[in-house]
Amino acid sequence: MDILAINGSARKKWNTATILQNVLDGAAESRGDVLTEMFHLYDYDYKGCIGCLECKRLGGPSYGQCAVKDQIQPLLQRLLHADALVFGSPIYFSDLSGMMRSFLERLFFPCLVYDKDYSSIAPKKLKTAFVYTMNVPKDWMNEWHYPERLGRMQEYAERLFGSAPRVQYVCDTLQVKDYSRYKMERFSVADKERQRELEFPLDCQRARELGAALAADVAGEA
Ligand SMILES: Cc1cc2nc3c(=O)[nH]c(=O)nc-3n(C[C@H](O)[C@H](O)[C@H](O)COP(=O)(O)O)c2cc1C
Repeated sequence: MDILAINGSARKKWNTATILQNVLDGAAESRGDVLTEMFHLYDYDYKGCIGCLECKRLGGPSYGQCAVKDQIQPLLQRLLHADALVFGSPIYFSDLSGMMRSFLERLFFPCLVYDKDYSSIAPKKLKTAFVYTMNVPKDWMNEWHYPERLGRMQEYAERLFGSAPRVQYVCDTLQVKDYSRYKMERFSVADKERQRELEFPLDCQRARELGAALAADVAGEA
């Protein structure tokens, strides 16, 4: 089975990518038949949906597919034929990163039918997971309603691909290695370092468990 991760951060070795890699490793360790790969959105030159509606034009050559021929287009097709997708995004201004948002517009909109039920013409049902990494601690995340806001895209994933996504929030991340070199007194360096040392390894372990659960979902064992 193909389990693919999409990194919506420009940083290929930091929080989001590390959590995504743990999801993939957890999936691969749990079963012998799992193939994994990670794609970094910032490697691709693309824009969000341009609203051309070609994906909905009856009898048109791009019906049900994104008509914009750019670097992300072949990846969209590859992803839609995977067994599970793991979307990873840093939180930017209380939401997905702009690159992840633009990417999801391109991936999701062609699959969404403008009929009475907003049905789906995704090529197959997929299992999905969303992992988010963010600066704020968990209580601020809840107070500022991040889960509700982020839940909107998760609802589209459920509608289009047939099952509710698994979700992981990774809070209070270390944003830079050395806080003394930046104007960042908003954050307690001691708290951040403690978080990195004690909590982040647990987040990585939870990500591995999420990966194993996702593989079991695909295999129909969950
Ligand atoms: C432009 C920008 C906006 C951000 N906005 C938020 C925010 O609104 N809330 C939050 O908790 N963290 C915010 N952050 C922090 C990142 O979400 C956090 O450091 C994340 O773990 C970074 O992921 P990465 O290490 O994979 O790049 C922001 C960071 C940047 C660069």
